[in-house]
Amino acid sequence: MKKKLIAGNWKMNGNAASNQALLQALLAQSADWQCRVAVCAPMVYLDQVKGLIQGTAIELGAQDVSAHAAGAYTGETAADMLKDLGVRLAIVGHSERRQYHAETDAVVALKAQRALAAGITPIVCVGETLAEREAGITEEVVKRQLAAVIHANGHCISEIVVAYEPVWAIGTGKTATPEMAQQVHAILRAQLHAATEHAARVHILYGGSMNAANAAELLAQPDIDGGLVGGAALKAADFLTIIAAAR
Ligand code: PGA
Repeated sequence: MKKKLIAGNWKMNGNAASNQALLQALLAQSADWQCRVAVCAPMVYLDQVKGLIQGTAIELGAQDVSAHAAGAYTGETAADMLKDLGVRLAIVGHSERRQYHAETDAVVALKAQRALAAGITPIVCVGETLAEREAGITEEVVKRQLAAVIHANGHCISEIVVAYEPVWAIGTGKTATPEMAQQVHAILRAQLHAATEHAARVHILYGGSMNAANAAELLAQPDIDGGLVGGAALKAADFLTIIAAAR
């Protein structure tokens, strides 16, 4: 069985001092970990975090990657640059980027493609808004979002990580029930099965107010292979409890 993956999404939080304190507190407990652990840090701190986690059990992740390979794209960061820095994973298509930066399914698919080409694992986020859930189109929305990435990446699709993050659950304290999450994860797994014979090895993470209290129940679901954790990843004790629940 594959090890679960717990990835912290720090978003635009922290500073050099708090990053160091957080990582030291996490690493003090790392001997007991049964799962993979990653932190997706802000771009400007990737190099600092890399230095602090080198040779440890924590994997380095970014929160975004450019859809372009190189060139006149002020402010963007290319997949090759991330690779150069030792980044292993990159979140693509987070709902905050889809919402605030107008990223379309096509852009997200391109970003996943750039990451894969550079040897970085894209963590492809999909998820419905509250209005979409209430309209009964959750399945349609998440399948459309994942289909764009499958279409653009062909046989490489087994190399991605998927994160199901219902938009209404992100940062709101509202979590999908384990049953609701599992239902969508099973849909995504079936979609991956139709695209690759290696679908079983793809990690499908749950994200959206995963915390120390609800992680164990979510992670016990058959198609939930880990978590993409926002707020709770900034508190060492909470993140460690989630990691301990992933076995
Ligand atoms: P949250 O964020 O855990 O704070 O809800 C998760 C995410 O957006 O990845």
